[in-house]
Amino acid sequence: METVVSGIRSTGNLHLGNYFGAVRNFVKMQHENNCYFFIADYHSLTTHPKPDDIHGNIRQVLAEYLACGIDPEVSTVFIQSDVPEVTELYLLLNMNAYVGELERTTSFKEKIRKHPDNINAGLLTYPVLMAADIIIHKANKVPVGKDQEQNLEMTRRFARRFNTIYGVDYFPEPDAYNFGMELIKIPGLDGTGKMGKSEGNGVFLADRPEDIRKKVMKAVTDTGPTAPGQEVTEPIRNLFTIMKAVSSPDTLAHFTEKYATAEIRYGDLKKQLAEDIIRFTDPVRTRINAILNDDAYLARVVKDGAEKARASAAKTIREVREIIGYRSF
Ligand code: TRP
Repeated sequence: METVVSGIRSTGNLHLGNYFGAVRNFVKMQHENNCYFFIADYHSLTTHPKPDDIHGNIRQVLAEYLACGIDPEVSTVFIQSDVPEVTELYLLLNMNAYVGELERTTSFKEKIRKHPDNINAGLLTYPVLMAADIIIHKANKVPVGKDQEQNLEMTRRFARRFNTIYGVDYFPEPDAYNFGMELIKIPGLDGTGKMGKSEGNGVFLADRPEDIRKKVMKAVTDTGPTAPGQEVTEPIRNLFTIMKAVSSPDTLAHFTEKYATAEIRYGDLKKQLAEDIIRFTDPVRTRINAILNDDAYLARVVKDGAEKARASAAKTIREVREIIGYRSF
């Protein structure tokens, strides 16, 4: 049984790509591991959200993960800012984190390039806070995508450095959780690349059926095959990939055949795809809304989650203070 920690961006409303990428696997792996899932709402302050937006975003994202099947009876589900112990570990780790190495991380350099007007110290030390999130529960595994690999490498480095400086074997160096072959990459509707929130090419789990129909009908296609056996272009391949994830094998076979014989009508394909996406997301959307309407349930989930997370975090902080040399009088 491994301890797994995963932070979730509080502005990251879930789209189909997230679902078939990580979230579906979180739901599975929670039964085989000791999982901590939390909404990273301290991290989100690096982009200066308005006070009025913060709570609503957290609530929405939390409801979406719960609706997908993250089970607070099985996993520890909490809000980062409900566990202030993490800020103490962050402070302690900052003393052994070097400005030079933080400045060299690609995500920091990227953010400087994109937001030259907001290069705050929180951005610089973002990997330190993330390391604190992870090692405060002495996690062995972190499910990370490509974009977070360097942050996980920094976490390993900070854990190792702590152990070296204090001559202890205290923090494990966490590895990437390997989902094996189960990650399905869902492309966007714009004809190129994967589905992403900032790309504006996504179908969200909370989207209403009429919005899904509109988005899918507007998906980029091509002029269509002019002869049987023609090679499939990227925008069409992408629609087939989404279809493979949400539609029945018969439907997929039907349209694959129509393409092969050059009889396909993209309008029909899109109509079917939209209905299949709706059939797939509808129960999730219903659950999201039911959860959002149940304040008492949400309050209970975050309270219980915070209690469990704080117990684990407080134990680590006690031990870390001892290791560093703080003693009570
Ligand atoms: N940096 C992660 C992201 O942008 C979010 C995150 C914060 C995280 N703390 C974490 C992920 C700890 C895994 C473990 O997606």
